[in-house]
Amino acid sequence: MKPIYITTPIYYVNDVPHIGHSYTTILADILSRYYKMTGHNVFFLTGTDEHGQKIEKAAEAKGLSPQELVDQVVLRFRALWDVLNISCDRFIRTTDPDHKKVVQDVFKRVFDKGYIYLGEYAGLYCRPCETYYTETQAENGLCPECKRELTLLKEEAFFFRLSAFESNLLEYVEKSPEFVLPLTRRNEVMSFIRSGLNDLCITRSAINWGIEIPEIGVVTKQKHYIYVWFDALLNYLSGIKYGQDPEFFRQYWPATIQLLGKDILKFHAVIWPAMLMALDLPLPEHVFGHGFIYQSGEKMSKSKGNVLDPYVLIESYGADAFRYFLAREVVMGLDGSYSDENMKQRFNSDLANDWGNLINRTLNMMKQYFDGVVPQTEMVFGFDESADGLRSTAVLLFDKIKELMGEFKLSHVLEEIFLVIRQSNKYIEDQAPWVLAKKGDIDRLGYVMIQVLEAIRLVSLFLFPFMPSTVERVYKQLQISVDFTHVDPLFFDWDYFKPSMSLGEPEPLFPRKI
Ligand code: MSP
Repeated sequence: MKPIYITTPIYYVNDVPHIGHSYTTILADILSRYYKMTGHNVFFLTGTDEHGQKIEKAAEAKGLSPQELVDQVVLRFRALWDVLNISCDRFIRTTDPDHKKVVQDVFKRVFDKGYIYLGEYAGLYCRPCETYYTETQAENGLCPECKRELTLLKEEAFFFRLSAFESNLLEYVEKSPEFVLPLTRRNEVMSFIRSGLNDLCITRSAINWGIEIPEIGVVTKQKHYIYVWFDALLNYLSGIKYGQDPEFFRQYWPATIQLLGKDILKFHAVIWPAMLMALDLPLPEHVFGHGFIYQSGEKMSKSKGNVLDPYVLIESYGADAFRYFLAREVVMGLDGSYSDENMKQRFNSDLANDWGNLINRTLNMMKQYFDGVVPQTEMVFGFDESADGLRSTAVLLFDKIKELMGEFKLSHVLEEIFLVIRQSNKYIEDQAPWVLAKKGDIDRLGYVMIQVLEAIRLVSLFLFPFMPSTVERVYKQLQISVDFTHVDPLFFDWDYFKPSMSLGEPEPLFPRKI
């Protein structure tokens, strides 16, 4: 089985982590946990993008050095990922020494191959802000920040020969329908490439907070620092030891799936593949541009004061419910919306009523009727049609999940799992264990309870990637110990519970929200 490599964008540290960052990282974590659980060798990379002028300025405003500032903010990201149970295999920072070395080595290699050249950059420059702006950013020739007059300035800079890759890129995207996902975004990318690619300025001299260009044997008038995007994109290579440990790198590259928001798709579906082509490296299997999360249908912004703080939601609903909501409510690839009403509705109906209640009532009945110990029963498969129905759907569920996960349809995976959860609840209603107990039909009662326990075990197993800590609690209640990072294939079958296995104490998992 080919190892799996999953990446998220690396986040800017000029802002604290918000729901958008959480969304991408949660999706990546779900995929990573799923693949690990099903026996794959997985490397999951996330991290922070720490260079550039914005950081330099933010640090200055706070009276800190850029390094001090990034060291502070990075802790906020790490802390949120801990709370959200993000199980990345490396958290990369662009200030990490090994990353810096890779960026400089790549710059030199691409320069030596003729894809980087020294040229002249011309743009509208604001002297007080020390920033270039594009024509569209500059309203009436004024600086969008300080509203002062902008000057047309020219300076030497290094360029990446993006134009050289235009036809190869187009050909690649055309012949690889799975490269840019979802399909709607693929068309966007193709028409962007068709409209023509200009060479990209990849150095800045007006900043100090960045990676300096390496020694390449060219005399320059000023010091040059590598542009943040050229630096940042290379994290996907340095994160798996490119140029440091070839064997390790070869295991994981090309990446299986690179997740990112639709706003930064062009960087990942045009510039990034061109950089890889310049390095003679294969392109990732999938670059997935997901949609945006809105707040009750509106775009979130600081000025509107409607930015959702992940901590507030986690405080009210718990990290797992938050993970569940984002994966269930937002179809991967489309935009989605958060509202308290929807969140509460999902929490109460799916998590509390359907899944939580299924486990709680089953364990309570097991305690009441069998002292929490799995009974011996004479009934076997084939004796009872409705039990067989539950068993077949639950067992077939894995095949469906494999297919849907392969298409990154996480919301559909959850839909399928919850169908089986509802079917299990219905099975309980139909079989009415309380009537069987009253009638003294202990054999049948035992059989029914075992069927439900098996269904609970399986649906909860499939929910592990989405809600890891709740599933650990469920398994504790079932007294099953399993290593979720590598589950035995036999465990995905039915017939796990054996007579005299004992179950733990039932504890409510999702107390209803009013
Ligand atoms: N540093 C760059 C990425 C470099 S990757 C080599 C960057 N950082 S970011 O912090 O601004 O944004 C990171 C991610 O958050 C992007 O994928 C962006 O799409 C995502 N989101 C920001 N707001 C969002 C929502 N409201 N909803 C969903 N995701 C959004 O860009």
